[in-house]
Parts: sequence; structure tokens; C-alpha cells
Amino acid sequence: MTTNLIIYNIGKLYTPYLTPPVRGADMSDIKVIEDAFVAIRDGLILDFGNHKYKHYIAKDTVLLDANKMIVCPGFIDSHTHLVHAGSREDEYAKLRSGTAYLDILKAGGGILGTVEKTRKASFEQLYKKAYDSLDQMMLFGVTTVEAKSGYGLEIETEVKQLEVVRKLNSDHPVHLISTYMGAHAVPIEFEGKKSKYISELLDDLDTIKTLDLAQSVDVFCETGVFSIEETKHILEKAKSFGFSVKLHADEIDSLGGAGLGVELEATSVDHLMAISDEDIKKLSKSNTVANLLPGTSFYLNKGYAPARKMIDQNVAVSIAGDYNPGSCPTENFQLIMHLASNKLLMTPEEILTAVTINPAYHLQIDHLAGSLTIGKQANLVVMDAPNLSYLFYHFGINHAKHVVIDGKIVVKNRQIVREL
Ligand code: NIG
Ligand code: FE
Repeated sequence: MTTNLIIYNIGKLYTPYLTPPVRGADMSDIKVIEDAFVAIRDGLILDFGNHKYKHYIAKDTVLLDANKMIVCPGFIDSHTHLVHAGSREDEYAKLRSGTAYLDILKAGGGILGTVEKTRKASFEQLYKKAYDSLDQMMLFGVTTVEAKSGYGLEIETEVKQLEVVRKLNSDHPVHLISTYMGAHAVPIEFEGKKSKYISELLDDLDTIKTLDLAQSVDVFCETGVFSIEETKHILEKAKSFGFSVKLHADEIDSLGGAGLGVELEATSVDHLMAISDEDIKKLSKSNTVANLLPGTSFYLNKGYAPARKMIDQNVAVSIAGDYNPGSCPTENFQLIMHLASNKLLMTPEEILTAVTINPAYHLQIDHLAGSLTIGKQANLVVMDAPNLSYLFYHFGINHAKHVVIDGKIVVKNRQIVREL
């Protein structure tokens, strides 16, 4: 059988291979193949390894010399607020001089400031900004992105955001998975009438489902935002519509959101800087993935999630970027991976698991992506590094040299290749 693309002369190929969720000590178990190749046909991985591959070459096969560099599966960023309008650099100085993130929100800024701008923005403006961000992410080796709504807080704008995600998924090479997050904050017009907002939001779930605009529903479970009881109510209703559910949990205060996530069989619980020991235990006995976002801790100058404690207690951990205009304004996924190493004290192998197969599992795409496996999507990144550890050691730069999505070279020599 012949192929469309062969990447050869790979110094070291790294991939997870265990069945997810990969938890605890298993997160270090990565397959390493030296002097490897990957053969791709019709967008899928046909073969890989260090055996003979020349018989796969046909007249029209594209050959890409990896020049002894390393190859990893494409990175999966499983938590972003990709689609929004405007920026919030005015809050940066406030945060630096000690104003609390939640106080900015309480004063009508923060998320609510972005809501105002996103409501006013046209579809095209939102699309263009998100498209440019996706380009940035792809240049850093990201091949799949989860994108949440939540800057509309009214059905019209929430639908607009999710329709932008849908169009990007068909126009941009990066794969997108969408999440409805009408419960990101209580909009100004519902101040003091939170239960009324929640009942509107519950009605809107029907619209989102009918339009098939999201796979999951997410709630910001936090002091002053949505309580444990409110979160439970919203997510139970979401489940009854057939959505999978997840939470922004224990980000600032320890409310027990992670434990609630386990109870609701959430696909992931995200943030977890303030998770309790009791909830770590619950997570370790569940298939809910702890999705940690160290970029947010870094930007807000807050504590970090206890990743070591979780891995040592057999929790399945993933790492995501949380790209958003207020608490983590960066598309640099390799910086996030560096923070997972430097601040969460995860090993290079654990981090690779946490940005590939574990996020694929909780986004419910592990049958398609998340590892280099015959038959899966050919999504991979050639990194200009001699080994995996080097990625974390030499930090702050972009190591991604070539990126392949669905068997197509979408970044070559650090430049985006546009399809004509
Ligand atoms: O994941 N925590 C809530 N939501 C985002 C921040 C959104 C914003 O500030 O605009 C987060 O950190
Ligand atoms: Fe978030």
C-alpha cells in the first residue's frame, strides 16, 4: 500500500500508548522509538516505527526529512475561551497592584467587560480574531482545541460564539470541539436575579442542543459566581439533554467542585488550585480527568494545583492553556507545558501524556487522536529538539518546526502553509 506522506529520519518518536484515562504512575509510560518514520495515507496513520518503509513510497508520496528531530502527537488544548472580542490590558496593572480577580468581576469588569464587547462584535470580527489565535496555537504544535462560549450570557451571542467555532472547525486545519458555557457569570441585567438567569439558561440548553452547537456544558463554580447547588442543578439538566459536563472547579475557593464533578461523572474538572484532599481521593477513584491550567496561576500570581499529589494518588491529569482575555491571555502552549514542568513539577513524560491522550479522552476523541496509533488522525508535530526533556529545559521559545494535521503539512519550517 502506498502513502501520501512519509516523515522519515526522526531522531526519536514519542507517543503514549496505554488506554486512557492514563493515571498516576502510568502517565510516565511513553513509547520511544529511535530512527523512526511515520507513513500517512488519506489523513490517517498507516504505519510507524523503525522498520523498513521504502515500499510505501509511490510517485506522488511527499517525503519530509525530520533531520533527526523529535516527533510527538499533536498537542490537544482541552480548555480555551477562544472566541471573544477585545482585550483587557487595563486590568493587568490592577492585578499587579493586588486587586483580586473576583473583585474586578464584582465591579462589573473582568468577564462582564468582555461580555459587553462580545455582544457588540460582529460574527466576522469574532471569527477573524479567533482564526488568528488558532494560527498562533497551531504554530506552537496544537492540533485540537476545545473552545467555550460564555461571553454572551444571552442566547443570541452564545449562539454567535458557537457558530464561530463551528465555522472555524470547517475552515481552519485545527480540529475544534465546542462547549456551551452560559454559566460563566451572571450578566449585569440579571444582577440580584440569579435564579431567573439560571432558569433562562436551562431553557437555552434546548436551543443549543437542537442547533447541535456544543458537545459539553461547563459551569464556573466559584464564590460569587455559581454555587455548588446551582452548578449541580445546571449540570444535571445538561446531562438530561445528552451533553457531557465539566466544571471550572476550586479555582480560587475550595467549594468542593471537584467532588461534585466526580458525583456527576464530569469528563473533566478544571483548575483545581484549591482542591481538598478529600476530593483528590474521589478523583483517583473516578474516570474524571483533573484538567490543570498552570498558565492561569502564573498570570494571576496565584498558587498552583497540587499536580504531584494528584499523580501520586493515581489521578488522571491533563494540562490545558485556558487561553482567555482575563486570566491567561496567551496562545503559547509550550509555555504552558513549561509551567507544568517548572511549577507543577511534572516530568516530561507525564506532561506529554497530559497534553495528548488524557485530553483526547476527556474530550471523547481518544479513538481519533491523542497518540500516534495506526488508524488515528495523522496529527503530529516535529520539534527541533534532540529529546523530550530538551523542550522543557530550553524554555520560552517555540520548538515546533513542522506541524501535520490530518496528514497535511500545515506548518513547514515554522511558516503556516495555506491551502489554495
Ligand atoms: O478559566 N474562571 C473563569 N473563566 C476564565 C476566565 C475568563 C475571563 O477572565 O475572561 C478562566 O480563568
Ligand atoms: Fe477557563
